[in-house]
Amino acid sequence: MGLYEKYVLPRLVDFVCGGKHFTKQRRKVVPHARGRVLEVGFGSGLNLPHYDERRIDRLWALEPSRSMWALGRRRAAEAAFDVEYLCADAEAIPLESGSADTVLVTYALCTIPQVETALSEIRRVLSGEGTLIFCEHGAAPDPSVRAWQDRVNPYWKAVGGGCHLNRDAPALLSAAGFRLENLESMYLPGWKVATFNTWGRAVIS
Ligand SMILES: C[S@@+](CC[C@H](N)C(=O)[O-])C[C@H]1O[C@@H](n2cnc3c(N)ncnc32)[C@H](O)[C@@H]1O
Repeated sequence: MGLYEKYVLPRLVDFVCGGKHFTKQRRKVVPHARGRVLEVGFGSGLNLPHYDERRIDRLWALEPSRSMWALGRRRAAEAAFDVEYLCADAEAIPLESGSADTVLVTYALCTIPQVETALSEIRRVLSGEGTLIFCEHGAAPDPSVRAWQDRVNPYWKAVGGGCHLNRDAPALLSAAGFRLENLESMYLPGWKVATFNTWGRAVIS
């Protein structure tokens, strides 16, 4: 890991993802989490204030970057429920099958290298009645915006720690065997190439 990934990127991600429009998105999805929760790509813990603590039994915070966790650990220490750090990739989740009632993933499916493998792992660790809650930026519906996403993507990935502008989260979820419930989408204010968001809930189909 280079100096950029270790020292600059975590703070950049924390600053950008902590913006007010992202915070509004988090408020739409995170309070739906309940029971034994796995958060995939926990980052710096920006979702923590939005959990409904009365509904949470425990939280597994899965995050492969120790530099991101170094920022998230302080927030985790203040949580009203138990937070256990899992230093692991989503492609190999160190939990028993069926052990999570909720998997939450926000702005991480864009970054996970083997996203199909990660979704298959998420499916495995979700209980039969469990719910995957997600909010992602990604592939825009407008062809002109989409073309720019494809053009800019290689440069964006280089500075964004592997983040893709043009992943289609709902399509990836469907292909992984999830049934989407109440899917919503919109452009957040800002540069359209980076702001098309989709969010909702998904269950094992
Ligand atoms: C843009 S950040 C989002 C962080 C957080 N989910 C949020 O909403 O603020 C993407 C996160 O995905 C993490 N990540 C990268 N590769 C991963 C992998 N293979 N498995 C799980 N998380 C990964 C990164 O370390 C980073 O913390």
